[in-house]
Parts: sequence; C-alpha cells; structure tokens
Amino acid sequence: MRVLVAGASGAIGARLVPQLIAAGHEVIGTFRSPASAERVRALGAEAVTLDLLDAPAVRKAVLEGQPDAIVHQATALKDLRFSRNFDRGFAQTNRLRTEGTDALLAAAREAGVRRFVAQSFASYRYAREGGPVKTEADRLDPNPLPSTRQSQAAMRYLDQAVTDAGGSALRYGGFYGAANDGLVEPVRKRQFPIVGDGGGISSFVHLDDAAAATVLALERDAAGIYNIVDDDPAPAREWLPVLANALGAKPPRRVPRWLARLVAGEAAVMIGTEARGASNAKAKRELGWELRYPSWRQGFVATYTATAPSDGGQPDRAARARHSQT
Ligand SMILES: NC(=O)c1ccc[n+]([C@@H]2O[C@H](COP(=O)([O-])OP(=O)(O)OC[C@H]3O[C@@H](n4cnc5c(N)ncnc54)[C@H](OP(=O)(O)O)[C@@H]3O)[C@@H](O)[C@H]2O)c1
Repeated sequence: MRVLVAGASGAIGARLVPQLIAAGHEVIGTFRSPASAERVRALGAEAVTLDLLDAPAVRKAVLEGQPDAIVHQATALKDLRFSRNFDRGFAQTNRLRTEGTDALLAAAREAGVRRFVAQSFASYRYAREGGPVKTEADRLDPNPLPSTRQSQAAMRYLDQAVTDAGGSALRYGGFYGAANDGLVEPVRKRQFPIVGDGGGISSFVHLDDAAAATVLALERDAAGIYNIVDDDPAPAREWLPVLANALGAKPPRRVPRWLARLVAGEAAVMIGTEARGASNAKAKRELGWELRYPSWRQGFVATYTATAPSDGGQPDRAARARHSQT
C-alpha cells in the first residue's frame, strides 16, 4: 500500500514510518516545520511539508500523492507546558483533531481513499463510574471538567467523524518509549506527585507497540474505535514509584487533593484520583495485536534505565541504588 502519514515526524509517526516500510508499504510522510524534513526522509519516507489546517493544501497533497490509505497522527504537543487550564495547552491539537480531520477526510473522499486511521486517546476519557477498566463500549465521561471540555469535545469529534467515514480511531494509552517522553522531566524533578490515595487509573502503551497496532489497523482495514493500551491499567500509586525508580529519581511526593487542586487544578486531581483505564481486549482479538511490552512494569525499565537524563549526564545510578534499597 501507499500510505500517507500526516505527522510522520512526531513521536508516534517516527515509529510508525519504519514499521510500515518494513512491512512492505510505501510512505508519504508529512510534517509541519521545515526542520523535520530531513528526519522524515531519514525514516525512509517521501517527505512532504503540510499544514493540516490549510484545507486546499491537504487536498492537493492527497490528490497528488495518490495514497491507498491515510493515517492522521498530527498533534501539536511538543511545547506543551503544565497549565491549570488544560484546554489552553491543547488548543492547536484540538484544531488538528477537528479541522485537520475534516480536511483529510474530505480529501480522502475526493481522491477515493477508503482506508483511514486516526490518532485518538483512551486515558482520562471514560466515565468516572463503575469498575476501573473500560472497553470501547463503555460511555465516555458525560460531565468533563470545565477546563478539559474543549479537548474532550475535539476527541469525540474525531472519533465520530472518522468512524462515520468507515475508518478507525485508535484510542492510544499514554505514550512512552523515548528519552524525552513528557513524564520524564516532571518525575525526575519530583514535580509529579501521588495525589490523595493515588487511585486514578492510567493506561500506557509503548510507542513501538502503538505503531504495530496502527500497521495492523491499516492492513486489516479496521473500522471503529479501538483502545490501543497495554495489558496493565494501574493506579498512580503503583506506576509512579516504578517510573521514578526506573529514571533513577527519588520517590514521588504525596500531596492531599486540596493542595493538588490549588496548585495544579481540577484536571490533575481527576487524573490522579478518579480516572479510569482502558481494556485492549478488542484490539488483541480483532487485530491480532501482540504486545512487545504487555506492561509498563517492564517497558519503563527497558526504556529509561538505558536513557541518560536530558542534561546529557549519566542516569543517577546512586539515586537509583538508594531508592531500590528502600
Ligand atoms: N497518547 C499520548 O500519550 C500522546 C499523544 C501525542 C503526543 N504525545 C506526547 O507529546 C509529546 C510531543 O509529541 P510529538 O513529538 O508527536 O510532537 P507534536 O508537536 O505533537 O507533533 C506531532 C506531529 O504533528 C505534526 N504537526 C504539528 N502541527 C501540524 C500542523 N499544523 N499540520 C500538520 N502536521 C502538524 C508535527 O510536525 P513537525 O515535527 O514538523 O512539527 C509532527 O509530525 C511527545 O512526548 C509525545 O509522546 C503523547
């Protein structure tokens, strides 16, 4: 197949392109900033600069590229900074998930491209009721927190638009598997605490496993919603100390809910104490997906113990040794 990957230079795109090529596909890889061109070429793709918010340009790229399939992996999260206003940090990503999805779907329709897979998100979206782990059939949170409403609406929009068009929306877990993963610096600096009882559940997925599931969704012409998460949804009180240990950091701090609400806002309290995880049973059953890292328990260790901190130094082995003795 000839596959157009929008967002080929991103965290997931850069893992997906080589896996597609290894499986025998041809890839047109799009990116936004000129600096990403070389990266995309080095991955083995035809590199095309494209702003998904420029609908005529999207139409031109799809009509000229003549792909058999399109994968939408474009987000704008590189410079995401912690903010009490969740939606502010996601504003551009929300546009990529709504306007960008519309532009790609319209171009796909016009060019006769039937296979369409798009990036969605599983964690912190399901209704905060009932059991800790949710399937695709369970309902999404009917009352998202005010500071997250636009982001939740944009993800719902993408899920609906893509599946209405006969494509698949992959609700990925929290990505990890790279030295610069978003959680690395805050956990290293002890800025990511266990809130309250730390009972909020997270679902993670290693980037290589997420890319493998995406290749399968394309090849099997999957339609519908799929949770692409590992086998081990877990509360923050379990995964955070393991991540800190793998990074050679001190154990996470513990803070009461009222303090977290004051400092970090409602969304941080919800994620840390009430969020539900996701089940991958459907993706395994229908896509035949097998995970290299079935649990973050092995994945964090495999990723981060081999990773130097971003200041260029060696991991703090002394700190790690200290922690592992406690
Ligand atoms: N499920 C998850 O947990 C999840 C999901 C997404 C991201 N993240 C995390 O967020 C961090 C940043 O993600 P990232 O490295 O993928 O970077 P990113 O800034 O989110 O960019 C992703 C891709 O989208 C492209 N892009 C950005 N704006 C675009 C636009 N207007 N039109 C078309 N394409 C556009 C980027 O191109 P350029 O490279 O040229 O800018 C890149 O190829 C990473 O740590 C990642 O793991 C997590």
